[in-house]
Amino acid sequence: MSKQKILVTSALPYANGPIHLGHLSGAYLPADIYVRYKRLKGDDIIYICGSDEHGVPITITADKEDVNPQVIIDRYHEINKKAFERFGMSFDNYSRTSLPIHHETAKDFFLEFYNRGILIEKKTNQFYDEKAKMFLPDRYVEGTCPKCGYEEARSDECENCGSLYDPSELKNPKSKITGETPSLRETSHFYFPIGKYQPALENYVEEMNKKYGWKDNVLQYCRGWFKEGLKDRAITRDLDWGIKVPVDSSPGKVIYVWFEAVLGYISSTKEYSQKKGEPDLWKRYWQDLETKYVAFIGKDNIVFHTIIFPAILMAWNEGEKEQYCLPQNVPANEFLNFEGKKFSKSRNWGIDVTDFLNLFPADPLRYTLAANLPETRDTDFYWKEFQARNNNELADIFGNLINRTFTFVHKHFEGKVPSGGKTEKIDDEMLKLISEYPSRISSLFENYRIKEGVLEIMNLARAGNKYFNDSEPWKTIRSDKEKCATTLNICLQAIYSLAELFYPVIPFSSEKIFMMLNAKPISWNECGKNNLAEGHKLNPAEILFSKIEDEIIKTQMEKLQSEPASVKTEEKISYEDFMKTHLKVAEVIEAGKVEKSEKLLKLKVKIGTEERHVIAGIAKSYSPEEIIGKRVVIVANLQPAKLMGQVSEGMILAAENKEGKLEILTVSELVGSGTRVK
Ligand code: MF3
Ligand code: ZN
Repeated sequence: MSKQKILVTSALPYANGPIHLGHLSGAYLPADIYVRYKRLKGDDIIYICGSDEHGVPITITADKEDVNPQVIIDRYHEINKKAFERFGMSFDNYSRTSLPIHHETAKDFFLEFYNRGILIEKKTNQFYDEKAKMFLPDRYVEGTCPKCGYEEARSDECENCGSLYDPSELKNPKSKITGETPSLRETSHFYFPIGKYQPALENYVEEMNKKYGWKDNVLQYCRGWFKEGLKDRAITRDLDWGIKVPVDSSPGKVIYVWFEAVLGYISSTKEYSQKKGEPDLWKRYWQDLETKYVAFIGKDNIVFHTIIFPAILMAWNEGEKEQYCLPQNVPANEFLNFEGKKFSKSRNWGIDVTDFLNLFPADPLRYTLAANLPETRDTDFYWKEFQARNNNELADIFGNLINRTFTFVHKHFEGKVPSGGKTEKIDDEMLKLISEYPSRISSLFENYRIKEGVLEIMNLARAGNKYFNDSEPWKTIRSDKEKCATTLNICLQAIYSLAELFYPVIPFSSEKIFMMLNAKPISWNECGKNNLAEGHKLNPAEILFSKIEDEIIKTQMEKLQSEPASVKTEEKISYEDFMKTHLKVAEVIEAGKVEKSEKLLKLKVKIGTEERHVIAGIAKSYSPEEIIGKRVVIVANLQPAKLMGQVSEGMILAAENKEGKLEILTVSELVGSGTRVK
């Protein structure tokens, strides 16, 4: 049988911030486990990824820091690449979309479509910020989704319900740059005719599902979009960061990031080929229609990988040039949350991969995330669960089996694999179980049921411990040495198999176990047999998993709660800025209701000798009687404003309490009216 050619990609993460555990769970760890498993199977596989370095997410971060986008992508490309490495991601190549090879690839595709007359040039209305004097990219506009009412929807796409719509349909649009209501202005863009490909795409999705069994969540998403009807999509943007549209009539426009980012998989493979000194190697994978191409992503990327990218490839394949393979499967995961809430950098909720790996080794994290992958629903990372998975499973089950077996063999059998001659029922059952495992795990991993596979492997370690206990080698060493030898032989065979089965999940530990066993990884298909020969010399054992103390976990949890991000991220002002606000003590001398208003009270206050009228929105919390005579704090140099037809010459400071009532800030009689508060 010839080797299967497999191409695996993971979504290219934006190089605009550090990746967190949620990213790892979505598109990276499951792919890495799958790839490592396939390599052990002996398949011809390459694993491709890289940084997504264009698009608005990058420019937003650059704007925030007031630096050139290049600074941002250089920084986060390095940080993420390193973090992935430390986490044990085994990419064959980790590229960047800012490389010339990618720009050329993207332009090739664009021009191919342009020259064949596939692209439609259309005038459209796009949000324009008059104050910032620029067209607003999708993510710079926020408003209410016309379909589901979600209030933080983007200009043409809702994160909440997943629908795509025309910007003119968005309700209450606001510019994220200036906060102004943007106007719609005419601009012209190139559209890719996705609508035209709908029948072919529907056919493709159903075919792939029939042949390869797509995940339910992915299938439902696709069918939903088909039902809505696919609309043509603009593949150019008015932006100056990105790949310039290679057509003269479009100055100042770049290729839409999603159109080119997916092509990054191809250019990253090209870069890989060049590095290997075989510039055409990429064609062996991409331009072979038999290639098993699997694209791992998170659920927010589904439409781009099951509809847009396949449509681009289909359109290309209709031309004269070499054809490309389409994804055979897109095993998208749901999201991982952190301790019950969404990861949020700005709210300091979650942890970066680098920070994590500075505290703990990669394998316990890989195991915990793998045991809890959001394959069919959102799941959570909990510090306590991380501790429990490490202490109770990796250390107490798997580590314990290895430790007690090695200790015993070194003590009683001179560190050599004991003979496994005579077996009884208990031994035969254990051997049978070991031998069944590789195919059992295969069938789970092949169907992207990674989480189940991982938990199942731990069950073999559990069975190994039980076998050790039930066989009581500490007794048989004196009563029946041959039986004792058999027990330890089988425990070692189990450990060898476990090191192999666990290798895709916890590669760093498996490598140590192979060292301890003085043996190499074998092919997956050979695993499960009695591969360690009698008399084979073992190396000394080392500790594989150390326990994580309560104290350490407690510190991490406290850190989360003790750093409210508002303090960290709030914009700082100078002392001079603060002093521009004149806060003064004022005495309330008269108070009354404002007609037709439930919220407002009309106050007369005295600031030193000066009298002023102030309209305050405190009527629901204070009656006029309650407030007369109080010494309050007022913003004395605020522009006068009209409220319900009444002029207000200042603002009174108050804070809302837990019950939703306002509490006015007051000072005692010792502080004279007119005194400055600072
Ligand atoms: N950068 C995108 C994200 O992080 C994913 C891009 S996947 C690609 O959501 F295929 F377009 F590269
Ligand atoms: Zn919506």
